[in-house]
Amino acid sequence: NSFPQRVAVIGTGYVGLGTAGLLAHIGYQVTGIDIDPAKIAQLQRGEVPIHEPGLEGLLAGQEERLTWTTSYEAITEADVIFICVGTPPGPDGTPNLNYVTSAAASLAPFLNGHAQIIVNKSTVPIGTGDYVQRLLEDHSPNFDETRHRVVSNPEFLREGTALSDSLYPDRLVMGGHPDAVDYLARLYAPLIEQTFVPPAGTPRPDSYTRPAVVRTTLQSAEMIKYAANAFLALKISFANEIGGLCERVGADIQEVSTGIGFDGRIGHRFLQAGLGWGGSCFGKDTQGLISAGREHSYAMPILQAAIDVNYRQRQLVIDKLIRHLKSLKGKRITVLGMAFKPNTDDLRDAPAHDLIARLTQLGAVVTAHDPVAMPRASREWAHLTYTAAADAATALVRADAVIIATEWDEYVQLNWSELVGTMRRPLIIDARNILRDALPAQVEQIGREAAHYQPEQVLE
Ligand code: UDX
Repeated sequence: NSFPQRVAVIGTGYVGLGTAGLLAHIGYQVTGIDIDPAKIAQLQRGEVPIHEPGLEGLLAGQEERLTWTTSYEAITEADVIFICVGTPPGPDGTPNLNYVTSAAASLAPFLNGHAQIIVNKSTVPIGTGDYVQRLLEDHSPNFDETRHRVVSNPEFLREGTALSDSLYPDRLVMGGHPDAVDYLARLYAPLIEQTFVPPAGTPRPDSYTRPAVVRTTLQSAEMIKYAANAFLALKISFANEIGGLCERVGADIQEVSTGIGFDGRIGHRFLQAGLGWGGSCFGKDTQGLISAGREHSYAMPILQAAIDVNYRQRQLVIDKLIRHLKSLKGKRITVLGMAFKPNTDDLRDAPAHDLIARLTQLGAVVTAHDPVAMPRASREWAHLTYTAAADAATALVRADAVIIATEWDEYVQLNWSELVGTMRRPLIIDARNILRDALPAQVEQIGREAAHYQPEQVLE
């Protein structure tokens, strides 16, 4: 069996760019393909279309091994073809497979006689691997079942730490025909053995050794991705549900999460109470599983509850504001943080979106700030009414309240005790539980009693 040398990556989002950069870094000849000529032109100029720490540096060093094109011709030469296109949710939560379908149909005519593995990295409904294989059969004159196999190889990277997550993963999951999985494992050998030199800026973590390699059927690999995300989403909602009761009985979710997390069966991660999850994965994948269940007349009440708790959190923050301010009509409310989490400019399913929409609906005058996501917001959130502030300090001036919606480090570092003095009313809804010190302000956090309560006051 030959050794894979050439790789094609279809799609230049978080997953595609990370995969292309990583495979070029570990030594392969990579072609990145996207149907969007503007994105390809940007990448050819050395610009990266998304904000992801370290990505620009990783791609910049690779001009020799990494090329960008809108043409599918590179498929002919490729030994391994990665499909990394988006699967955005439809109105009922069912993932939209249009991009996967068109990627498979477009690449198929270029398949040739040598062994070529088609790897699905997009998060897709269980059964999509077989569907892609059928599309390849239908659209390729050279299709040969023994040479052209589909493998599911889900991606577990988190935005903001994408490079580190993909260079030093916990596990590599590969599902499909054993021969095809072997071939893909050979491609990944430098990653599995960790023999590559870590790129500048993304060092190997001290305790890290190597990933677990999990070989499964196609269907199990597809399910593993959904189940992993749904479980993490569930953990966050669980912390939020317990947190709500903590507030009412005088317990503190921060202490409770720490306390339960030491149980090795539970673990500390993803128990942070707050505004709940956002982003492109947790909402979409929990909905995706529920809609898969629906197709089989199978209810998934645990996942539905996790989703309900998550969206209730966004309303609870507004309720807290109303408890203090009575009416929001004409009140100046500042929202700090727009991205769904720190270190990204991704706005998909960001809690701040729902907060801003609800606040304006209730008659508030909203000012918002984000360290990196504001340019993107001016395009993608043009339907919302808010004033974009140049910086966090400006955003706070004469505000009736501030909601911390994203836990950017910049917001942790603000000189809060000075800044609250510039507010009209020093009321902070710290929806991410990031403030630690007592402040001359009313501070509300999530899942714990109003921490540093000061009597109501309005500065005139
Ligand atoms: C997630 C998965 O972690 C990743 O494995 C998968 O491949 C894609 O989906 P991502 O969406 O980039 O990654 O972000 P993640 O860091 O998981 O955070 C998701 C959301 O949960 C954020 O809005 C974050 O603020 C929130 N969160 C996270 C909590 O509210 N509490 C926590 O304890 C952890």
